[in-house]
Amino acid sequence: MNKKLYIKTYGCQMNVYDTERMEDVLAPLGYEMHGQPDDADLVILNTCHIREKAAEKVYSDLGRIKKKRKGRESIIAVGGCVGQAEGEQIMKRAPYVDMVFGPQTYQKLPQMLRDVEAKKGNVVELDFPAMQKFDELPQPGKPKAGTAFLSVQEGCDKFCTFCVVPYTRGAEYSRPVEKLLTEARILAAKGVVEVTLLGQNVNAYHGEDKHGKERGLGWLVREIANHVPEIKRIRYTTSHPRDMEDDLIAAHGELPQMMPYLHLPVQAGNDRVLKMMNRQHTAASYVEIIEKLRTTRPDIALSGDFIVGFPTETEEEFKDTLRLVETVGYAQAYSFKYSPRPGTPAAEKEQVPEGDKETRLALLQGLLNRQQETFNRNSVGKSFEILFEREGKYEGQLIGKSPYLQSVHVAGAKELGYKLGDLCEVKVVEAQPNSLAAEIVEVTPSSCGLTAGSRDIA
Ligand code: 5AD
Ligand code: SF4
Repeated sequence: MNKKLYIKTYGCQMNVYDTERMEDVLAPLGYEMHGQPDDADLVILNTCHIREKAAEKVYSDLGRIKKKRKGRESIIAVGGCVGQAEGEQIMKRAPYVDMVFGPQTYQKLPQMLRDVEAKKGNVVELDFPAMQKFDELPQPGKPKAGTAFLSVQEGCDKFCTFCVVPYTRGAEYSRPVEKLLTEARILAAKGVVEVTLLGQNVNAYHGEDKHGKERGLGWLVREIANHVPEIKRIRYTTSHPRDMEDDLIAAHGELPQMMPYLHLPVQAGNDRVLKMMNRQHTAASYVEIIEKLRTTRPDIALSGDFIVGFPTETEEEFKDTLRLVETVGYAQAYSFKYSPRPGTPAAEKEQVPEGDKETRLALLQGLLNRQQETFNRNSVGKSFEILFEREGKYEGQLIGKSPYLQSVHVAGAKELGYKLGDLCEVKVVEAQPNSLAAEIVEVTPSSCGLTAGSRDIA
């Protein structure tokens, strides 16, 4: 008999990937994804601990789920980084939670479920066997609409002083090249044309090749491009400026499969703050990397992460962040108020008042939004290939992703024979702050999917 599985995913793409893999692990037990928690047999919250708000949301969601379920016989689990960081504490605050597990142990879900069902009490699984996890996971299941995540690296050894990731995801681990090629081939056979290589520190990738030699991310993307021809688009996230090696930058110029878009967080534009953050790069060295990338691939679009109000950051130092943003010019970016995380060094330092953080965030987001609007407006009239990823609101409409990761709405795409997972050449006719509208250039879907990359948007 089929059982109903509800998973809510918080936070980063790594969690999105983990959720998909949990579905794969639970499918043989008869679990099928279900749209809402109220009548699900198993509810999993796949959580994020990066900022306080994200972590607190888990508890309010748990309370709401508990209330709505009114004593139904079912299992409630907290997985992901809050699970890892808070462990049994979760059961103290929310005693109706049956299972707690971290990001490195969900391959053991069948055993955990058996233990819960055998009423062995609450189950807590918080090991760190990243290597073992990948060895024990089943092959990836059905991908969504032509695009898939491929986890190549996990964990982080950088210890930025604001960040919980090294504590919740553990030490860096890179999967071997051959295993990743096999997984890429499996995905390609299931219709995937785009892979996003995932890792907390993806460009720190240093997996072994078949001769046992360590290889970087530049090598890995070349291997995928050369040996898995069905993959037309390669993306990777999230990168650290310190690991942006020349070989990887060169791959952006060589391989048409490399999408001209890079998420490269800088966090702040002031060198004293960067030093306190233990970022191990300066504002100037970051700009130098951007210049190299733009020389190699002139149309590359940049995205980033920023933290405002890091402990002791002054008004003047914050302005350096605005200056850096003006210098770089982002297509899209994420910005956050600093949130003290228990156990991290920065949480012990002198904090910036909340009001100052809010003012700084508003200024920064205003600037980043203007840059995003400009980038989108400049896309009008350009042609490029998009990958259809989801249905639109209107009859026949499909929404795809541009090479620059913009959402592109195409009216009437289905009537012309296009479907999710198709690549298609379009011309942009209109820009909104968060999306584009485009018309199809090619009219026969059968001729789509033969090319990769983009045209004339520089
Ligand atoms: N407070 C605010 N933002 C944070 N980030 C990580 N830790 C914190 C924190 N303590 C942001 C960084 C990182 C992104 C994933 O989240 O910008 O790149
Ligand atoms: Fe966190 Fe820094 Fe590692 Fe990124 S590089 S995951 S911000 S510690």
